[in-house]
Amino acid sequence: MKSIYDVVIGRRSQRRYTKDMPTRALVEKIIDGARWAPSAGNRQNWHWWVATGEKRNELVKIIAKTSDRATELFAEYDEKVQRFLSLYLRTVGGAPVIVTLTYEKKKPSEREKPFDWDLWDYASACAAMQNFCLIAYAEGLGTCWMTAPTLVHEEIKKCLDIPKRHDLVAVSPLGVASHEIPPIPRTDPELKKTVHWFGI
Ligand SMILES: Cc1cc2nc3c(=O)[nH]c(=O)nc-3n(C[C@H](O)[C@H](O)[C@H](O)COP(=O)(O)O)c2cc1C
Repeated sequence: MKSIYDVVIGRRSQRRYTKDMPTRALVEKIIDGARWAPSAGNRQNWHWWVATGEKRNELVKIIAKTSDRATELFAEYDEKVQRFLSLYLRTVGGAPVIVTLTYEKKKPSEREKPFDWDLWDYASACAAMQNFCLIAYAEGLGTCWMTAPTLVHEEIKKCLDIPKRHDLVAVSPLGVASHEIPPIPRTDPELKKTVHWFGI
């Protein structure tokens, strides 16, 4: 069994997949684990939308449109930037499953009112998203945390019948990665610039 460090360090954002379909039981197991993330106020108001087959194909087409949307947004940038962006935005990479994560905007209770729940619920969903990527990797599956599809969030919500009161957090392909990706070095390898010590 991999140690937690093996899992955290070994996980990569996978952008190419085989056609092998994970079982529903395995996807459920991964999401079941992911929801043990901490959540602000213990609200746990994240939702997972798991698409395979026809719905998955519809989503692929919608997500491909992010490239066009980005081309509009980045029209002023040079070709290199445009090429990089189009690669970064078309990343479902043939995965048989696409998982969309949203959080439901809930009215704060009286005691919750002073806080920015949009921000905190989003942060909580991000914690669940990281768990999802790590557990999937531990189970032999690849993921890629993608926020680019939020550029076409209205269309994704319509396709999956997601209620208006939900905000899109991330989309991820899920499946068996077809290529090993070498680790991408982290900045500040000696932790000299980004860790600030006091009294230890
Ligand atoms: C909030 C967030 C948004 C991201 N959005 C995208 C995306 O839209 N498309 C994509 O290909 N990768 C996306 N990524 C993946 C990053 O590019 C990737 O994590 C980074 O390059 C480091 O690679 P690694 O995950 O393999 O370590 C995103 C990651 C995070 C945390």
